[in-house]
Amino acid sequence: MRLRLQAFLGGLLLCVAVAGNATADDKRTAVLDFQRDVFPIFEAKCLRCHGEKKRDGKLDMRTLDALLKGGVTSPAIRPGNAQKSLLIELLHYNEMPPKKETPRVTKEELELLRRWINAMPVSSASSPQ
Ligand code: HEC
Repeated sequence: MRLRLQAFLGGLLLCVAVAGNATADDKRTAVLDFQRDVFPIFEAKCLRCHGEKKRDGKLDMRTLDALLKGGVTSPAIRPGNAQKSLLIELLHYNEMPPKKETPRVTKEELELLRRWINAMPVSSASSPQ
């Protein structure tokens, strides 16, 4: 009788451990949101030159629509393709913000922006005109 109880408790502990692991794995796959996760980075590091008062390179970074439209060169982001996105390219080569301007974008922020663009459905691209 005592032995069966021990086996039962052992099994119970094992179940708890397995369930705990499954929830820990879900954390990094959370969906990124423009307003919540991305905009604060732009607000802190880009909007003083690409926002309400100034539109350097004719680029407005306050909304997703404006980013998809882009500036003088091209759309700033290409949904689903961070590698081909001008915004990511400029950050990757450390060209934005312009040299000597601070604060700079951190590696973690760049990684977050890459993940955000790559997860974006391709259909959200504005149609060429
Ligand atoms: C101090 C002002 C300043 C800040 C801060 C700044 N930029 Fe710029 N940005 C510029 C200027 C000036 C240009 C135009 C450069 C040119 O045409 O050679 C530009 C151009 C760009 C372009 C290209 C637009 C186009 O279509 O040609 C992108 C993309 C861009 N910036 C992204 C960013 C991002 C992302 C940040 C924040 C991490 C940022 N910028 C912060 C001044 C700034």
